[in-house]
Amino acid sequence: MNLKQMVGIESAKYVKDGMTVGLGTGSTAYFMVEEIGRRIKEEGLTITGVTTSKATEKQALGLGIPLKSIDEVDYVDITIDGADEISNDFQGTKGGGAALLFEKIVATNSKENIWIVDESKMVTHLGAFPLPVEVIPYGSEQIFKKMKENNLNPSFRLTETGKKLLTDSNNYIIDLHLEKIEAPKELATWLDTQVGVVEHGLFLDITNRVIIGTSEGVKTIEVNR
Ligand code: 5RP
Repeated sequence: MNLKQMVGIESAKYVKDGMTVGLGTGSTAYFMVEEIGRRIKEEGLTITGVTTSKATEKQALGLGIPLKSIDEVDYVDITIDGADEISNDFQGTKGGGAALLFEKIVATNSKENIWIVDESKMVTHLGAFPLPVEVIPYGSEQIFKKMKENNLNPSFRLTETGKKLLTDSNNYIIDLHLEKIEAPKELATWLDTQVGVVEHGLFLDITNRVIIGTSEGVKTIEVNR
């Protein structure tokens, strides 16, 4: 079993009967969704899933997981999702799979957020992994210019055929190649105040529990906020 599968299966243990569960996106969250599907089938687990991308929606439907949209539930009990980087003060970046907008909407409407990662995602400082910013296509070249002027080293995310990638909400992703994010909160505030920026991949003060797959086994860290 690989590390992503290990943490995916471990995280599904926190899902209890009757819960509304935010289902994350990516190659690690994939294993959590599979395990929840297995528990529904084999153990009779009853949950309602709220997906964070079209890809996860397709997977969940294929497994027979009952789904509602975020607007059809009062709140989400628990969301389980992957992350691109987690710093030693448990701030994170997400959006490597371009699903950051729905992921943040679901996460911020959840009572609890669990992140599942392999040990390679645990870092001292955020920033080595490019930080995704979702922008509305109209005016995106202007935002790009502004990011360049502010030394944020932007690049549009492209598809394999060289076109600008479109997210599930038909927006573009601009990746910021920063190497090291010295002040995540300041950068988040700057991005939050740029017209045309829909959302960014800085997920600050969000996670309550991190489940890490290591070569010595699974390590779970409770994060007190
Ligand atoms: C998608 C995400 C993913 O959760 C993140 O990129 C981690 O993915 P993976 O588990 O495949 O490494 O934020 O937008």
